[in-house]
Amino acid sequence: MADKLSDSKPSKNAHTVTLTDNFTGKTCELPVLKGSEGPMVIDVRRLYAETGHFTYDPGFTSTGSCESAITYIDGDEGILMHRGYSIEDLAAKSSFMEVCYLLLQGELPTKKQRSAFESTITYHTMLHEQMLNLYRGFRRDSHPMAIMVGVVGALSAFYHDSTDISDPRQRMIASHRLIAKMPTIAAMAYKYSIGQPFVYPRNDLNYAENFLYMIFAVPCEEFIVRPAVARAMDRIFILHADHEQNASTSTVRIAGSSGANPFACIAAGIASLWGPAHGGANEAVLQMLHEIGSKDKIPEFLKRAKDRNDPFRLMGFGHRVYKNYDPRAAVLRESCHEVLEDLGVRDDPLLDLAMELERIALEDPYFVEKKLFPNVDFYSGIILKAMGFPTSMFTVLFALARTVGWVAQWQEMIEDPNHRISRPRQLYTGPSKRPFVPMAKRG
Ligand code: SDX
Repeated sequence: MADKLSDSKPSKNAHTVTLTDNFTGKTCELPVLKGSEGPMVIDVRRLYAETGHFTYDPGFTSTGSCESAITYIDGDEGILMHRGYSIEDLAAKSSFMEVCYLLLQGELPTKKQRSAFESTITYHTMLHEQMLNLYRGFRRDSHPMAIMVGVVGALSAFYHDSTDISDPRQRMIASHRLIAKMPTIAAMAYKYSIGQPFVYPRNDLNYAENFLYMIFAVPCEEFIVRPAVARAMDRIFILHADHEQNASTSTVRIAGSSGANPFACIAAGIASLWGPAHGGANEAVLQMLHEIGSKDKIPEFLKRAKDRNDPFRLMGFGHRVYKNYDPRAAVLRESCHEVLEDLGVRDDPLLDLAMELERIALEDPYFVEKKLFPNVDFYSGIILKAMGFPTSMFTVLFALARTVGWVAQWQEMIEDPNHRISRPRQLYTGPSKRPFVPMAKRG
């Protein structure tokens, strides 16, 4: 991992706040820490010792769980940066391999560093041959995310020589193995689900090309990866690479805080990402668009989305942090048109429906007042569908791309000298102590 001093400005005490308990009159002075960007934080580590109170923040809407130098988000301004570089610049001018290096090392690679990194990843893309047997234990109609959770967790049984988390070299080898093998694991999950033979990775293709090749090639004929599709795939990977302390990244950090091996931690992250409120939303967006079916049905579904008694939500809209347009959605919206044009898809009814839905929603007072904008999942599914992926693979692609963010954040957590096992407390509202009731007296 990068030298912490070279790429980050450690937090420092800015000032203090004084907390007064108006019931007891007791006060507690707490330090306020200032980072390099964004809100300052109140350091409450001494709060319980000094006041006997916990903080209370279900869903962590106002809680900073760690110090990090990897990704910065300004939700009000719709800003996303990785190590100080804007997502717009990285999507337009960089590559996913460069972004992987940046997230792991803290700096964009030189030409020599990029070549060495790409070679390392390329030569870790194959799976231990015995792992292929694991796929045959799954039903053919298993959701590929179920296969991903299982196979990634099983990596610790085959790559035990990179599970000593106290060894920086093993941490980086495990990170490289995960980044390199996720496309192979994902492609094999897809091939298994459609009854086609596994396609092995090739060392003459770049990361995105290799993934597309393993997904769409068959042994019976030559498969040529379309450059525009490979570029779109690479850009989609960049846009999903990391996103601060989201639910799945926090899951990886908490799993890692107990000392669990990196493969188990990433399997936990995949499980968390699967939820429709998180990475599963891209699959849910396509299902929603199919359910809406036509533009004249949009008002009916918007009405449902606004009804607190109706569990229906507009999938691909809203975000815990972004109260502005998700910058990734803006890039994907543009890419949609480019990819569809390159694929010769003139008028995609789903894209037309999505754009009309977005137009109406962004004018609707409910969505405007609650600052509900399209997020990264709103357009990604439309591109992926046009590229030939089934909706069941959408979240798999999200997990594939997010693996580099997970391992970078996991490494940063382990290297933090202040890191300790994550163990939140609670506000207990259950029964107070009561005597045991023998069966005869239980009515
Ligand atoms: C990702 O955290 C990350 O960074 C995640 C991610 C990443 O890269 O890791 O960006 C990836 O997960 C993107 C989000 C994908 N999920 C969806 O698109 C699912 C639909 N969106 C919602 O479920 C919701 O917006 C969340 C889960 C994304 C955010 O939920 P919050 O922050 O808990 O917000 P909330 O549920 O409290 O909503 C605030 C209000 C509520 O109304 P009130 O109770 O105040 O009356 O807005 C409403 C919600 O009912 N609301 C929606 C809505 N999203 C929020 N109403 C209709 N449709 C929606 N999509």
